[in-house]
Amino acid sequence: MKMDVLLGLQWGDEGKGKIVDVLSPDYDIIARFQGGPNAGHSLEFGDFKHVLHTIPSGIFRENTQNVIGNGVVIDPIIFKQEIDKIREIRPEALKHLFISKKAHLILPSHKTLDAASEKAKGQTKIGSTLKGIGPTYMDKTGRNGLRVGDILRPDFSEKYDFLKGKHLQLLRQYDFDMPEVQNEKAWFEGIECLKEFELIDGEYFINNAIAADKKILAEGAQGTLLDIEYGSYPYVTSSNTVSSGACTGLGVAPTNVGKVFGIFKSYCTRVGSGPFPTELFDNDGEFLQSKGHEFGATTGRKRRCGWLDLPSLKYSIMLNGVTDLIMTKSDVLSGLDKFKVATSYIIEGENIDTVPYTYEGEIKPVFKEFIGWKEDITKIKSYLELPVELKQYVEYIEKETGVPVNIVSVGPDRDETIVRI
Ligand code: GDP
Ligand code: IMO
Ligand code: MG
Repeated sequence: MKMDVLLGLQWGDEGKGKIVDVLSPDYDIIARFQGGPNAGHSLEFGDFKHVLHTIPSGIFRENTQNVIGNGVVIDPIIFKQEIDKIREIRPEALKHLFISKKAHLILPSHKTLDAASEKAKGQTKIGSTLKGIGPTYMDKTGRNGLRVGDILRPDFSEKYDFLKGKHLQLLRQYDFDMPEVQNEKAWFEGIECLKEFELIDGEYFINNAIAADKKILAEGAQGTLLDIEYGSYPYVTSSNTVSSGACTGLGVAPTNVGKVFGIFKSYCTRVGSGPFPTELFDNDGEFLQSKGHEFGATTGRKRRCGWLDLPSLKYSIMLNGVTDLIMTKSDVLSGLDKFKVATSYIIEGENIDTVPYTYEGEIKPVFKEFIGWKEDITKIKSYLELPVELKQYVEYIEKETGVPVNIVSVGPDRDETIVRI
């Protein structure tokens, strides 16, 4: 059976974790395909709340296998922390976790390099999560990286020392108050923790599952507008967050991709630096931030908030070949008298409805206004019962994008989800 893909269409934090958890009973395998612990995917059911960073969001479903694919970068320290936490609350959940031998390892010195690079950038810093993501992917493409499979080799610690030595040399180039490379002990404990799991040839694992008619859902991290190629470069992450990243990040041919679920919030958020055409600096922005509890799940930073940006959404849908849209955080708009959507931008006096090469300079969004609704919608279970104003909004997005909105999420809990098909 073809592999489905689920990914974010904005700047991350669209609610991927929640929706993967909702969909996972329909799948045999959930496979993360890129990113690393810069991600924070929140799951909620009843009193249970959990944030995952490296581990796929199907982990709390009894019959689902979870794969960390080759496109992912793993910090053994954070990985062990995640494992220890799950072991405490649901040890049985870990029975079905598999890790690709080709996934790359984040070293403590990658994190130091990340911090040094951000400091050197000063005002133009990316606003990285400082998890070592950029430097690790640089070593991967520079053909210097350490991979999970290497931990089984007798010369692993020499390889580690060699790469660390290279990093220490690089760090001398920076005006950076360099601490001793820290947490090495914890890092090697993390390596031992990785060894407790089945390390797999992920591309064979996934392709054999496809051949055996298993249902697979590839889980993305970050969002399309943070993609290394197509995002608001250089204010992006260092991996391909788009659907083609699921092919390279898991070893699946494009001909074996089925549905592409694209998730977006009913408004936009962004954490970290970089352009954000519809960003709000007024009461509406504060309303979205506080009602939506818009704080980063990984860093705790306040998320910047703004209205939905249709040119960007259409761009993301195009890049990913989205077949099904999922709108989250619809409930957050409840209570607003009016809300808006950007339909195009004015750039240097010209009205354009595509995403420009760079978002530099003044971009003035052109807004369409919608009438809001007052009622709480979090307990509503069917699409038909939603306020007419929300349905009009959903149907406007469908008309504009040409893609059906098949899931409307009305709260953070698993149960607060309206599936239309
Ligand atoms: P991810 O990175 O895409 O998995 O998203 P995050 O977990 O970082 O951020 C999404 C946040 O919104 C989390 O706190 C979720 O619990 C929450 N959330 C997801 N869907 C909804 C929704 O429909 N309504 C509300 N109010 N919260 C939601
Ligand atoms: P999930 O999977 C939101 C942002 C950072 C920064 C930029 C680069 O939870 O949606 P990096 O650490 O990759 O060097 O940071 O990307 N960023 C995210 N923003 N959600 C994420 O992941 C993010 N991962 C990275 O804030 O602006
Ligand atoms: Mg997140």
